[in-house]
Amino acid sequence: MKDYYENRVAVVTGGASGIGLALCEEMLSLGAKAVVAADLNEEKLESECSRLEGEYPGRVLGVPTDVTDKQSVFRLIERAAAFGDGRIDLLFNNAGLGLMKPFDDTTDEDWKFAFDINFYGALHGVRAALPVMRAQGGGHIANTASGIVFSPMPFQSMYSATKAALMAFTTSLRSELWDDNIRLSTVIPGTVATPIWEKAGGAPPSAITPRESALGILKGVAANQRIIILTEEDLSGARNAFLPENMEYLDQYFLEVARRRRSGDGQAI
Ligand SMILES: NC(=O)c1ccc[n+]([C@@H]2O[C@H](COP(=O)([O-])OP(=O)(O)OC[C@H]3O[C@@H](n4cnc5c(N)ncnc54)[C@H](O)[C@@H]3O)[C@@H](O)[C@H]2O)c1
Repeated sequence: MKDYYENRVAVVTGGASGIGLALCEEMLSLGAKAVVAADLNEEKLESECSRLEGEYPGRVLGVPTDVTDKQSVFRLIERAAAFGDGRIDLLFNNAGLGLMKPFDDTTDEDWKFAFDINFYGALHGVRAALPVMRAQGGGHIANTASGIVFSPMPFQSMYSATKAALMAFTTSLRSELWDDNIRLSTVIPGTVATPIWEKAGGAPPSAITPRESALGILKGVAANQRIIILTEEDLSGARNAFLPENMEYLDQYFLEVARRRRSGDGQAI
């Protein structure tokens, strides 16, 4: 892995917390030349970046960014390329929100916001980074979806729909941009113990750590995997989601989840 990440310039959205922060830390420890963390939470971004700057002087930049705002994402990429001496080798479109809500309570504005954060955030990143990557002869973009694309969860219709759209977009572009030497991977990061679970009462006990997730993602990107699936649970979800003989079992399973969630168990998966 060190061979792949050494001297690279990387941008990570949602880089102040959870999986994004772990990606930044691991790439720095693998010898990345410059890591640019972007996040909406300026306070956390500032404190994490100054901590990392202490450990890796001159190799870390924090850029306050709102990925739902196209101009903000374009400014991020411009600043990142300047910090990386004109290069951006890796872009991790990782920022995202869990968006758990009963469908009946959602408005069209909620749905627009859901797509802005979980889908258009990454699309803006791709648009902004492509000219830089083309000019330098290539690059790799990793878009973080979720195991939910194989197992759409009740009370998470916005999350399920936005992440499924993101995976389809990413996989389609992977073949379209391959001959430009621009690689795209979809990341299915596992169930990971991060603040994203706070509103659901905390991560399930089976959750992996952000560092475990980040290391798996970096390995998958270095190997140029089409879909980076980190855990057995998500792999099994992916394998079994569409088999005709499983349909009855899947209905029963997700009905049980719906009933548990309706009764207040937000961790039910
Ligand atoms: N943790 C899990 O179990 C899990 C599972 C599947 C997928 N994911 C996905 O992994 C990604 C990272 O999630 P995490 O678990 O590390 O969560 P997290 O809450 O720890 O980190 C998400 C970060 O994104 C930032 N963010 C939110 N809105 C933003 C915006 N508009 N612009 C820029 N930054 C913004 C937040 O401030 C936060 O720092 C998300 O896309 C999430 O959907 C997480």
